[in-house]
This record gives sequence, C-alpha cells and structure tokens, in this order.
Amino acid sequence: MKEIVLSGIRATGQLHLGNYYGALSKFVKMQNDPESKYINYFFIADLHALTTAPEPDKLHENVKSILAEYLAAGLDPEKSTIFVQSDVPEIPEMYLLLNMHVGIGELMRTASFKDKARKMLGLTGDNDENIEKEIIGANTNKRVNAGLLTYPTLMAVDILIQKATKVPVGKDQEQHLELTRRFARRFNSFYGVDYFSEPANFDFGGEPVKVPGLDGSGKMGKSEGNCIYLLDDEKTLRKKVMRAVTDEGPKVPNSPMCEAVQNLFTLLKIVSTPDKVQYFTDAYNNCSIRYGDLKKEIAEDILKVTTPIRERIIDIQNDDAYLARVVKAGAEKARENASKTLRDVREIMGIRPF
Ligand code: TYM
Repeated sequence: MKEIVLSGIRATGQLHLGNYYGALSKFVKMQNDPESKYINYFFIADLHALTTAPEPDKLHENVKSILAEYLAAGLDPEKSTIFVQSDVPEIPEMYLLLNMHVGIGELMRTASFKDKARKMLGLTGDNDENIEKEIIGANTNKRVNAGLLTYPTLMAVDILIQKATKVPVGKDQEQHLELTRRFARRFNSFYGVDYFSEPANFDFGGEPVKVPGLDGSGKMGKSEGNCIYLLDDEKTLRKKVMRAVTDEGPKVPNSPMCEAVQNLFTLLKIVSTPDKVQYFTDAYNNCSIRYGDLKKEIAEDILKVTTPIRERIIDIQNDDAYLARVVKAGAEKARENASKTLRDVREIMGIRPF
C-alpha cells in the first residue's frame, strides 16, 4: 500500500534555505523515491499566510513565487499533486468542524502562537502570564487574531483531509504535528471510530533539520530577517555568508564552540560533504581554522544547489499559463480526495442528508 505524503509552505515571501533544507528538498526526494512508495501532495498555504494579514496583492505574488520555486526545485506536476490551499474549499469547512474538538487552552500554549502573539503585542521576555493577560485585555482584541490561535487546527485539517501519514517538515513544526496526532486520536475516540491515522515527520531515517541563522543565534526565518533566499544572486549570497557572525577563533586546542560558530558548522553539515566537515572540524580543534575559508566553502556549496534552481525560477515565474494549468489540475486532484474525507467526517459527526 502506498503511503500518502503531504506538506506545505506558507505564502509569506520567497523561500529561504530553511524552507529548502527543512522542507522542499525533502518533498523532491520523496516524490523521486525510486520505489515510488508515496502518493504526494504539496501545497501553498495561503490561508495560513492570512493569519499575519498580508497585503492582498502581495499574497497573490507570494503564492505565485512559491509555486515557481516548487517547480524549479524539481516538483513535477506529473508525479505530485501541487495545489493552492484556498482552491480546496473542503479545507475551511473541515477546519470549522474540527475546531469543535480543539481546546482554546491547548492552542494558547502552542509555542508558535506564543511567539507570534508576543511579537504582535510588542512583548519582550517569555512571561506567559503576560501574554494571556494582554490577549484577553480590553484593548488588544484586534491585535492577536483568532486565525492565528487556530493555526494548528487548519494545519491538522490540511493533513487529515488528505489522510496523509508522512509529513516532511522542519524541526520547528514538530509541535504542530504532535497536535495533529492528538486531534486525530481525539476525533477517533470521541466518535468511537478508527477513522484518522496519526501522521509523522519523515526524512528517510534522518533527523528533522533546523537551519540556523547566520547572525549569531536562533533559526533562519523570515520574521528573523536573517535569510539566505533561493533567489539571492551569487554576489548577494556570498556577501551574506561572508558577513556571518563568528568569534576571534580558538586559542586553545579542542575548545568548545560559541553558538555563532556552531551555527556555521551546522550549516556546513547540511550543505557540504562529510570530508569537508571533518577538515574544518579538525582545523577548528587544532586552532588553524580560518573562518574566511570556512565561509567561502559554505557559500560555494550553497551556490551549487541554488544557482540552477534560481535560473529555473526566473524562467518559470513568467510563464503564467503554465502556472495556472498546474494549480488547476492540482486543485481538482486535491479536492477529489478531500471531498471524500469531508463527506465521511460530516456523516460521522451527524450532519446527514434527509
Ligand atoms: P512555514 O512557511 O513556516 O515553513 C515551511 C517549511 O519550512 C521549514 N522551515 C525550516 N526548516 C529548517 N530550518 C529552518 N530555519 C526553517 N524555517 C522554516 C518548516 O519547518 C516547514 O516545514 N505550518 C507550516 C505550513 C503548513 C503545513 C501544513 C506543513 C500548513 N499546513 C500541513 C505541513 C503540513 C509552516 O510552518 O510553514
């Protein structure tokens, strides 16, 4: 039996290396699995992008650019169903239904919600009590929207409506997957059915990836403003990598690495070969490392991957007719599967025809 794979990326801007190594490169790997063990659905999460109120024109531009980036990176509409989330109206309907089984408390405790809410409210530190008070407070009902709170319900529906069991995502999405599993179990046990399976992250046995930022700490992310984009040209990309934060270099053999240098090594492990990782690790440990060489190597290896993709993106994104054909065909296939699930869910929940 083939397993169903599904994943998506929010339409919030161009794709960066975190999206590529955490998600898109895995989509392509699963699609091209030589044994063809998977039925693949990859989509652009434009409804999720609405949680952070993008400008309407920008939203459409972003959907288009991610679609072009998917295709340029190797997703093939002949092998995978590629669609836009908002083209599948069954998703918002099931989102409403599933929300009846989701607790406000568990949503408010989700790390991604707390992070975003904190940013929207301009709070610093991580005092959770403050967030709750501020959210419920009288003047704040416009600032943290209910869509942001129910983001995990919508993501669970994306997955469950296609009956997907494998969901290739980066490390930062693990909590959302855990919630999806919990909602699936809860639905089954509430209605006494064995309807939904529990999905899991998947990377052919590899660990979930977290691509770091090169500004010293944390992950690469759009809201962090520390991204290297697939579309960055050679000069921009080299400049960004060469500017990565480091320290003065090790003075004593085998010293521990500061976070910024660790991040460079994490990136090196993701983009380079094991022998290069060994070479620079040895150089660090015997204090002969030159960070400039390490950065040049990283930039070179990233460019090997991104340059051909960038060239294809530029071609594909101007071909509106092709893009329109891809999403139309994708929406039809995605709806076919989704409508079966929605019909069952309505029936299970007691919404029945006369
Ligand atoms: P988004 O757009 O925030 O992220 C898209 C994918 O990129 C991965 N990612 C990273 N991976 C490693 N290191 C990083 N620095 C990094 N930054 C981003 C994310 O883990 C993710 O895989 N909620 C999803 C979108 C979504 C979805 C779904 C995914 C909506 N519905 C259903 C799977 C299944 C998200 O985080 O998008």
